[in-house]
Amino acid sequence: MNLNLLHLRETSFTSALRLRSDKKSRLLSSTILNSHLYLITMPYQLDSYSFAGKRALVRVDFNVPLNDVFEVTDDTRIRAAVKTIKKIMADGGRVVLMSHLGRPKGGPEAKYSLKHIVPVVSKHLGVKVKFADDCIGNKAREVVDKLKDGEVALLENLRFYSEEEAGDEFFAGQLAENGDVYVNDAFGTAHRAHASTAVIARFFPTDKLFGYLMEDEVQSIDRVLNSSATPVTAIIGGSKVSSKIAILENLMDRVQNILIGGGMAFTFIKAQGGKVGNSLVEEDLLEKAIDLIAMARDKGINLYLPTDAVIADAFNNEANRKESGIASIPAGWMGLDIGPKTVTLYRDVILRSKTILWNGPMGVFEMSNFAQGTLDVANALAEVTAKNGAFTLVGGGDSVAAVNQFALADKVSYVSTGGGAMLESLEGRRLPGVAAILL
Ligand code: 3PG
Ligand code: MG
Repeated sequence: MNLNLLHLRETSFTSALRLRSDKKSRLLSSTILNSHLYLITMPYQLDSYSFAGKRALVRVDFNVPLNDVFEVTDDTRIRAAVKTIKKIMADGGRVVLMSHLGRPKGGPEAKYSLKHIVPVVSKHLGVKVKFADDCIGNKAREVVDKLKDGEVALLENLRFYSEEEAGDEFFAGQLAENGDVYVNDAFGTAHRAHASTAVIARFFPTDKLFGYLMEDEVQSIDRVLNSSATPVTAIIGGSKVSSKIAILENLMDRVQNILIGGGMAFTFIKAQGGKVGNSLVEEDLLEKAIDLIAMARDKGINLYLPTDAVIADAFNNEANRKESGIASIPAGWMGLDIGPKTVTLYRDVILRSKTILWNGPMGVFEMSNFAQGTLDVANALAEVTAKNGAFTLVGGGDSVAAVNQFALADKVSYVSTGGGAMLESLEGRRLPGVAAILL
């Protein structure tokens, strides 16, 4: 890799180390890497590495949902890792995949065996993936040693050992015996400082790399948190403001507009003296909500709150419902979606934006009668992506589920595979899985 040091600076927000290649520039978010920001541009690390004849130990996040008969019900995370795996196969490398599945209690549990997903991984790679009953020791070695160039093996669930989550160094060393080079493509688990995601990198001081998915995810977050394509708008929803405080605070230094939706809006409305009926409110955060509003005003950020809501007399899809002003919700009623006036306002802001982050639904979209606000926002994102070439990132659990439900996932620029990893990135926290490769 031919990297030139171009730029080094330090401000209250960034100290930047910019590395650049002639071909393609890539950014790794300063916020994700460290509190003192290192802004790095580079080509995909994988492109300049030849895996021929090498055992590539690849940490993937194949923590996918399974049904009662252990079939994969959403293979998004498996599909997302295919590009990295195929590159190694095409080079003539030997791929050794490792992942966790679920949260076993530190010992083997049949329902969490990764053998359940072997058929799906095989299907997406177009080869028969071999399976090792253990992720370390003789059972792993037997399978790995028999791999030929271009072949793929999957190791058993890493979390069958409590040492994985403990970040045990000896266990990380045992895992490391399965590879000559370490690739981390597990963005969904990059916020965990576990043996396979962070500690293991020490055993590969020169041969440790990001996979394509990891770089794409980090790049996408960087494109919203450090964007010069303004205005930048963050749409933040979901039920609880408590889980979004750190994100809102971090965004205040990085975006021009913040649109608030979902149940969390009612804490802001009540804090300002509005009547919210039975709507969800976090009473202990009323003061914090006022602080956030003041913070936005002081920093010159446009913080938008809903002006109207679709309200219901019970928390179910068949409840009576009507529209209401956001601050005049009658007793016995609760807001379950943003209303049409809010949609018009939010749509307008979205369509004028060049960069948009969406995290958290606008209402209880799982119930069809309260899905309209979330659907309208999703459609506005699709529209601004297609018509204005805006960069639109959707991330974090429920909003990803929403764009999938509305079949709009391929109409936005990027849909993150990370839940917690995405949220922690948006908080400006350093992800151990990312840091371990860079250090
Ligand atoms: C996830 O799905 O959140 C990741 O795979 C990490 O799993 P965890 O939350 O159990 O650590
Ligand atoms: Mg999780």
